[in-house]
Amino acid sequence: MADSPIVHWFPGHMAKATRMITEYIKKVDVVIELLDARIPRSSANPVITELVGQKPHIVLLNKVDLADPKATKEWTEFFTKQGITVLAIDSKSGKGNKKLISTVERLSKPIIDRWVAKGIRSRSVRTIILGIPNVGKSTLINSLAGSAATRTANKAGHTRGQQWVKIGKNLELLDTPGVLWPKLEDQCAAARLAMTGAISDDVYDLEHVIKQLLNYLLTNTPNILVERYKLKEEEMTDVDTILESIGRRRGCLVSGGIVDFDKARRIILQDYRNTKLGTITLDKVD
Ligand code: G4P
Repeated sequence: MADSPIVHWFPGHMAKATRMITEYIKKVDVVIELLDARIPRSSANPVITELVGQKPHIVLLNKVDLADPKATKEWTEFFTKQGITVLAIDSKSGKGNKKLISTVERLSKPIIDRWVAKGIRSRSVRTIILGIPNVGKSTLINSLAGSAATRTANKAGHTRGQQWVKIGKNLELLDTPGVLWPKLEDQCAAARLAMTGAISDDVYDLEHVIKQLLNYLLTNTPNILVERYKLKEEEMTDVDTILESIGRRRGCLVSGGIVDFDKARRIILQDYRNTKLGTITLDKVD
């Protein structure tokens, strides 16, 4: 299982997703790609650049509230240096929405200017949100599009089946997100996708994933482990000892005083996801 933690994206699904995304992209002027700010590299789709083609493209580092602010700054600089427009946002609070809308409007200005120069009757600029599962696409669409009532009103006058919602003066968003597949081949990326919750909990090997997470924490932020689980120095030797000690501290015991390792693993996973271990960005720029 450790060699193939993701089981639900096989070639047939990828081919179908590619077809759908390609069709969607044809209909829009600007593409918004959502990444998880904790894993900007691992949460990127392997062929996104190919899919987007020449259209203007914005990268959003979402769930910034769960990520390390210093790492977010480094990732923002990284994308900017590559000439990619990037914004860090927290879709849950909707804080970055205004900036996002004004950025899409800025990127679409040359398109509108071209329409005007050609004498084409101007229409609204159209955009779409793309990303792997659980990266926050629906949360962002809901936050940008507002209440269901607004959305119904927005849709009036459009052809049935075309679900565009007005999110700016001259800007429409496709109400359906484009679902991209996650990185399948890269085992390190797959484990990080599992840690952050991008992959459904029942399709990966928890033992393998927690081993990687503990290894990361032991190497990068050992003090957090010590503080959170009240570990003694002599327990900080290797990930197996750490896991067992956490299990004992947290009372994850079965009959005979044996540690219930699975229970201990789930506690650690929840603690990571709920930022009880701090705001940790797993992917580093370098
Ligand atoms: P998807 O459409 O891309 O599949 O993702 P979706 O919006 O369903 O979001 C997946 C989970 O990520 C949801 O949590 C959502 O609340 C959370 N989320 C989205 N954006 C942010 C963000 O910027 N910050 C934080 N902290 N969380 C975010 P859930 O536990 O599945 O649902 P819920 O209990 O929050 O409703």
